[in-house]
Amino acid sequence: MAVIAKMCPHVKVTVVDLNEARINAWNDENTENIPVYEPGLSEVVAEARGRNLFFSTNVDQAIEEAEMIFISVNTPTKTYGAGKGMGADLKWIELCARQIARVSKSDKIIVEKSTLPVRTAEAVKDILQNTGSGVNFQILSNPEFLAEGTAVPDLLNPDRVLIGGDQTPEGKEAIEALVGIYANWIPRERILTTNLWSSELSKLVANAYLAQRISSINSISELCEKTEADVNEVARAIGTDSRIGPKFLKASVGFGGSCFQKDILNLVYICRSFGINEVADYWEQVIIMNDHQKKRFALNIVKDLYNTVSGKKIAFLGWAFKKDTNDTRESAAIYVADELLNEEAMIRVYDPKVKEQQILGDLNYLATRKPEENSEHVAVFEDAYSACENAHAIAILTEWDEFKDYDWQRIYDGMLKPAKIFDGRNILDAEKLRAIGFKVKSIGVK
Ligand SMILES: NC(=O)c1ccc[n+]([C@@H]2O[C@H](COP(=O)([O-])OP(=O)(O)OC[C@H]3O[C@@H](n4cnc5c(N)ncnc54)[C@H](O)[C@@H]3O)[C@@H](O)[C@H]2O)c1
Repeated sequence: MAVIAKMCPHVKVTVVDLNEARINAWNDENTENIPVYEPGLSEVVAEARGRNLFFSTNVDQAIEEAEMIFISVNTPTKTYGAGKGMGADLKWIELCARQIARVSKSDKIIVEKSTLPVRTAEAVKDILQNTGSGVNFQILSNPEFLAEGTAVPDLLNPDRVLIGGDQTPEGKEAIEALVGIYANWIPRERILTTNLWSSELSKLVANAYLAQRISSINSISELCEKTEADVNEVARAIGTDSRIGPKFLKASVGFGGSCFQKDILNLVYICRSFGINEVADYWEQVIIMNDHQKKRFALNIVKDLYNTVSGKKIAFLGWAFKKDTNDTRESAAIYVADELLNEEAMIRVYDPKVKEQQILGDLNYLATRKPEENSEHVAVFEDAYSACENAHAIAILTEWDEFKDYDWQRIYDGMLKPAKIFDGRNILDAEKLRAIGFKVKSIGVK
């Protein structure tokens, strides 16, 4: 919404949220304190806020005034009832639709920006069209393809924008209205229009394909570790084939983030509900492989530290699920830490953008052990050198660029020997580290 406001100064954008603390943070005088860390975002907010970008908790007023409403609420995996652990929880979507239905006095275009299971628009439509208020609603699907960490450049220069809508004259008119917004900065040929259902499904499929590439290369990484093939060389060799392409071929400790797992589970659940179990099993394997990779990384650390990490200090460099974000949802670091804590390790974390409260909160959320035990075994540091002091081993969990440029000799001098590094992102120069004296284990390299 901030980027729409930046690129369309003639459009008034009001972002509303029930969460008052979040809205207050978005309104913080110092735009460096906004709640989301994304390179370039605070500058965009500084430019547009107060001009045509506003943040408020007055949801009713914003609904009443708007001609177009983007529903961008959370759609997490269900934690209860039918579809628990698989399907999307559409509670917040439904609440939004009901509130819009109740408050609206004039015709509106409703845009599904949240990622939703295919055919959700049907439910939204049902709620909106049965209010008896005489107000007309058109529902569009406009899934978001930005990647966290590069959100601003992705939004300014997207590969494509996807807009789905009813193929009726009114539906097509609504599609054109939204095309008109994006066309302020995106070439028309990159704005794709489809029917509603193709658009809803395409977002799930896009994430499933991306995650599948990661699980595919990670599966090969394990085979490489057995065979003396090097996964980085294999990735380069296959990525130069233009049919395969070089992106998303980096072996790692596994993918995280709020979207990949939830969206694939969603796809799997939808397939199962249609009785197409082979298709469901096929995509579910992407998740199974990812869970295996995270667990394998943790257990390799235990094995390499002479089959016990009890009482040993293991420094984690990185906690965010990827670099250039402060988002930790589903981060591999959480699950690796949880495994090592089961083995009674002492974890010492440093992440450039994630604070102690978040790290402990992520572990407590798993409810594997009491919060006091997590606090006792996990220490969070303001810099990497302190986190690595007297550690038995270092694990790289996030690919932050700064890790490459550390004074690794200084870190080595401060560690217990043999000093071990488990590079879960294959970002460090292993040869250089070995020359210092480190024992280095990378992913997919024997
Ligand atoms: N994070 C991403 O990179 C990304 C990318 C593409 C798509 N998406 C999709 O976008 C959606 C939102 O994701 P997110 O990461 O921003 O989630 P989030 O949980 O960070 O934000 C959702 C916000 O919605 C607010 N909210 C919930 N119900 C509300 C209501 N009835 N009225 C007003 N506000 C309400 C919550 O308070 C919360 O602040 C999800 O469907 C997600 O799959 C996210």
